[in-house]
Amino acid sequence: MSNRLAGKVALVTGAASGMGASHARAFVSHGAKVVLADISDEAGQALAAELGDNARYIHLNVTDADEWAAAVAFTVAEFGALNVLVNNAGILDSGALGAFTIEQWNRTLAINLTGPFLGTTAALEALKASAPSSIVNISSAAGLEGIAAMHAYTASKFGVRGLTKSTSLELASSRVRVNSVHPGAVQTPMTAFGKEQPAIDFTESTMTRDAAPAEISALVVYLASDESSFSTGAEFVVDGGITAGKDYGF
Ligand SMILES: NC(=O)c1ccc[n+]([C@@H]2O[C@H](COP(=O)([O-])OP(=O)(O)OC[C@H]3O[C@@H](n4cnc5c(N)ncnc54)[C@H](O)[C@@H]3O)[C@@H](O)[C@H]2O)c1
Repeated sequence: MSNRLAGKVALVTGAASGMGASHARAFVSHGAKVVLADISDEAGQALAAELGDNARYIHLNVTDADEWAAAVAFTVAEFGALNVLVNNAGILDSGALGAFTIEQWNRTLAINLTGPFLGTTAALEALKASAPSSIVNISSAAGLEGIAAMHAYTASKFGVRGLTKSTSLELASSRVRVNSVHPGAVQTPMTAFGKEQPAIDFTESTMTRDAAPAEISALVVYLASDESSFSTGAEFVVDGGITAGKDYGF
């Protein structure tokens, strides 16, 4: 337990599972109050109950503007402020050109890119009123380089990176910082595909392993806290080196 996030009230989307759950745990352990938001209600409620008095759960489909408004109002009503928004909810979907459908494209963009836009819009006044505030947008290494047959995912994560830039410029004078986080391969349900398709193993990463979610949470805690007070509109890469380049064996 530390007080690095004392006085901070955070809303974390996709907090029922994987990295979002890890971020929520880390935030509470550093003294924040956290609203966990997800569509996976049972898991979200269970984690909030486990985290105790400083955590709540609310159902939030990030593609729904009305649910966003309700989640922001709930956060302020429960904890009196909102000064950290973590746009973490996301889905991974893939398929070669010609096979990947418009429905898959639209769904991926709606959750991964429109979700953070709606969230930023809904939380704006509360974030300004509780400033200094921080928005942490979870992009990906796929927001820095392409992945074959992951067209919508790559486009959505590049989009999150761009949205981070435009919003950071607009909100700097309101003392709301906005940064993007670019994880490489992390061990979560998203990358554990099951029996037919083996879990992603990004062993070309220069660190030759996948990350544990807590290794990403350490960065998200920093960006949520006032320790990162001079960082805005920036890309924070936490990828074990996969976007550093290639080793050609010279
Ligand atoms: N796992 C990785 O290797 C990796 C790498 C880079 C970036 N990311 C990104 O990190 C974020 C978290 O991924 P994860 O690996 O923890 O995935 P995950 O599948 O474990 O968790 C994602 C969570 O988002 C929730 N969610 C899905 N659709 C939603 C919606 N419409 N509204 C609200 N919540 C919704 C799910 O219920 C789930 O709890 C995602 O944005 C993902 O793209 C993941």
